[in-house]
Amino acid sequence: MILPGSDSQALGAALAAETGRELAAVTYDRFPDGEGMASVDLDGTALDRAVVVASTPSDTAYVELLQLQDAVREAGADHVTTVIPYMGYGRQERAFEPGQPVSARAVARAVATGTDRVILVNPHEASVTDFFDVPCSVVDAAPRLADPLPADLTDPLFLSPDAGAVSLAESVRDAYGGGDVDYFEKVRHSGTEVDITPSDADVTGRDVVVVDDIIATGSTMSESIGVLDDRDAADVFVTCIHPLLVRNARTKLERAGVTAVYGTDTLEREVTTTSVAPVVADALGSAAAE
Ligand code: R5P
Repeated sequence: MILPGSDSQALGAALAAETGRELAAVTYDRFPDGEGMASVDLDGTALDRAVVVASTPSDTAYVELLQLQDAVREAGADHVTTVIPYMGYGRQERAFEPGQPVSARAVARAVATGTDRVILVNPHEASVTDFFDVPCSVVDAAPRLADPLPADLTDPLFLSPDAGAVSLAESVRDAYGGGDVDYFEKVRHSGTEVDITPSDADVTGRDVVVVDDIIATGSTMSESIGVLDDRDAADVFVTCIHPLLVRNARTKLERAGVTAVYGTDTLEREVTTTSVAPVVADALGSAAAE
């Protein structure tokens, strides 16, 4: 049985269809004092194995995830798998200054108390898998990012805004079937301010696909689009695994002159154009195989 968190309802349904598992009747309520209550109506169905699928872009989403894990244990599940399509706090994988917590480790430990196995989709740092005290594996959805791209890109260049994301750009290029790969250099000054230094790749008249793992405030992508525009690139598409798109990110991208924005359903947003369900389903295996 698949139990989706409130931020992963479409993905939960897609996973149920892909794997042949039942989609649970989950509800998300809130008490007058503000406390949440995610629960499942089992209607007499026996539950031995459960899959909780919950992205965690907020503190509330983490509490929901813990509640769903606890609800299925309470209902008798003897094996729980937790899929975290987008892992919130995943970028706090170390204490950057004395006195700070390793937040990714703190939330991972909490999650691990209620599950037997964790699956993450393209976490920002692969090292976060070590923070879970249960087996944790990663699935790579980057090749799926090629699906929504136009088939007739002009002399395409697949570009990452920093060296850390170049393997994502390579995966998308390979799945697309051709094109060059390059990367810019990025220096982050604050949560919303970044400087992008372009490479010397010639982008004049070429269609460029900028690939990153996350679009959060949109600063990285809008700076990259600006640099490409200054250098007379043709169309600039931006694509990412996790379209967090906080605050005015979408406006920043539009004002920078983006041609189109794409993302997956690890976060269900207007720009979500492709599903990670097939790659997560492969990691889960079919219900019949259990
Ligand atoms: C950072 O290294 C990540 O790969 C992304 O580039 C970053 O999270 C994007 O953040 P923002 O959209 O706020 O620039």
